[in-house]
Amino acid sequence: MSTHDDDFPTDDPAVVTCGLPYANGDLHIGHLRGYIGADAFSRALETLGQQTAYVCGSDMHGTPVAVYAEQEGVDPEEFALEWHEQYEETFPKFNVEFDNYGHTHDETNTELTQEIVRTLDEEGYVYEKEIQVAYDPQADQYLPDRYVEGTCPYCGEKARGDECDEGCQRHLEPGEIEDPKSTITGNPAEYRERTHKFFEVSEFSDFLTEFLDGLEGTSNARNQPRQWIEDGLQDWCITRDMDWGIDYPGEGGEDLVLYVWVDAPIEYVASTKQYSERVGTDEYDWEEVWKDSGDIVHVIGRDIIQHHTIFWPAMLEGVGYNKPRGIAATGFITINGKGLSTSRNRAIWAKEYLEEGFHPDLLRYYLTTTGGLQQDVDFSWDAFQEKVNGELVGTVGNFWYRSLLFAYRNYEGTPEADVSEEVYERIRDAIAEVRAAVNDYDLRGIGQAAVQLAQFGNEYIQRHEPWKLTDDDPETAAQVIRDCVQLSKAVAVLLEPITPDKSQTLWEQLGEDGTVAEAELEAALEAPPRNFDEPGELFAKIEDDRVAELNEKLEERVAAASDDEETESDDTDADESSDMTDVDDLEPLAEERISFEDFQELDIRVGRIESAEGIEGADDLARLEVDIGFETRQVVAGIKQLHDLEELPGEKCVLLANMEKAELFGVESNGMILAAGEEADLLTTHGDAEVGEKIR
Ligand code: MF3
Ligand code: ZN
Repeated sequence: MSTHDDDFPTDDPAVVTCGLPYANGDLHIGHLRGYIGADAFSRALETLGQQTAYVCGSDMHGTPVAVYAEQEGVDPEEFALEWHEQYEETFPKFNVEFDNYGHTHDETNTELTQEIVRTLDEEGYVYEKEIQVAYDPQADQYLPDRYVEGTCPYCGEKARGDECDEGCQRHLEPGEIEDPKSTITGNPAEYRERTHKFFEVSEFSDFLTEFLDGLEGTSNARNQPRQWIEDGLQDWCITRDMDWGIDYPGEGGEDLVLYVWVDAPIEYVASTKQYSERVGTDEYDWEEVWKDSGDIVHVIGRDIIQHHTIFWPAMLEGVGYNKPRGIAATGFITINGKGLSTSRNRAIWAKEYLEEGFHPDLLRYYLTTTGGLQQDVDFSWDAFQEKVNGELVGTVGNFWYRSLLFAYRNYEGTPEADVSEEVYERIRDAIAEVRAAVNDYDLRGIGQAAVQLAQFGNEYIQRHEPWKLTDDDPETAAQVIRDCVQLSKAVAVLLEPITPDKSQTLWEQLGEDGTVAEAELEAALEAPPRNFDEPGELFAKIEDDRVAELNEKLEERVAAASDDEETESDDTDADESSDMTDVDDLEPLAEERISFEDFQELDIRVGRIESAEGIEGADDLARLEVDIGFETRQVVAGIKQLHDLEELPGEKCVLLANMEKAELFGVESNGMILAAGEEADLLTTHGDAEVGEKIR
């Protein structure tokens, strides 16, 4: 097993995976965030020079598939395969390029799963136990997992079968859900005694504690499981009373199938194996990765941390396999500040995005650089427009086009001059930033390093004004443009994990051979070919009326879906429970707890607004002066449209006083006004707390 003392790139082969999509419905932006994120990470590792496979597959088994297949009245295998094929077609359209994309029902996975379970059994980690399982007498069938709904015993939220999907996100064992109701008939479930197989997860507490200490990735993937281990681990029921799934391979389980969460992660291994078999083990050896010393990285949603940090490493340890080096758990996606909801049609669908004709790299850029991996990321067409127009069109595209056009017109390509030391060093710094970002599992950091390099390029041109030099000082002009061509190439190389197709086009515009995907970081410093053709612009501005149109479409759609919900009691949506509450409109509650010390670091004060005025040129921003007792602070707040600014002076407010300073539209903001909701309802205090008092 590798010790992880080495930074990426290591000499070992790496495998990057993302959570397998259940083959049960259309893909949306929430799925794409994970697949694009993992794709970008795997491309980034390759750019660093590490041999990397990116694998995944469709999750075909379990009640998430069986329940919906039944609703459609089709055989689960047929149903799942159809979705599987759709997914296979969809991913490349977002430049998500798996080295292998299998599915959990194929032979490779079925055999490997049975082999692994048999080994766990032989090693003495599997035992039989009689348990009470839910049963629907009217439907005359057992009710595993999503066939029941009820209340989570841990947090009291409404829960669905084996997962507390709207509350604490815990995995629920059979029999644990309180007040179970059958989702088939709506009747309260009865309990019947059945014998099931259990995997002795509790034996692995010490191992898992140590495993988590060495685990890289996002902090939520380490901290949550530590809590679960402290609370005491339970053994894990690994069989179900169902027909659809992989047959339990050992004795005494003849009429049982394996729980879907057993065979699903094993597909990570099976898919790697298929890749290895296709390219040959000389080129990529799955056994080296999974049984010896490879670097395994899982990108997952934060709702499946428990499966990946407890059950999965325990299974791997039980069969003597290698363990993950990093687990990066992403936050959720919200749409216009509200929870993504497929039943309310409040989602951006993969299909829809493509039909609107936007280039996939724009969404890739938005999703990877809008927030940190762990953060929930809000999507709105307005924010999308702002990011694309500002960073991709305004900074990157603008720099690329003006540099290459100038070079083409004056030198028919790359001028014959050496790159200046300043620019060479600046590119070297950017390379180091990217390398550090990859080692921090920080996709946003990769994007920032590249875009800031383009920003530097724009300033560099502005500073040197080469257009004024071509006649009087042709030597300097040539050198400045030589620098800009090098910077353009460097930006393309560094941004490739995030915008692979746009980077490739730039690569070709520079007259480079091969693909930028194959280029490593150092290529950012290598000279491009001497000649190239007239360049074209790579990014186009998204216009305001386009955004207005998209907003309208989304609103109408959500409204239509809520109307349906009122008139139709039978919600047959593919992913949500039937009686949605308004809680669904809210941003999900934070999963991670902070300490009292952390809270005390926030210096929040009672304030009084002294003046408020709009900031010229900014649609939403206002400049406020706020008295906080000790001093008066100038802050910028996005409330121009939402409040009558003249009414604000004299109002009490609440201000985060030790917020880092920022500058917006040239105005310094020294603190942050706290507000709630879409109307930016300003927080205030209920009684007579004095201006300047600390909120505690
Ligand atoms: N299909 C599961 C989900 O969508 C994810 C399975 S990931 C794996 O929640 F680890 F099991 F592969
Ligand atoms: Zn819960």
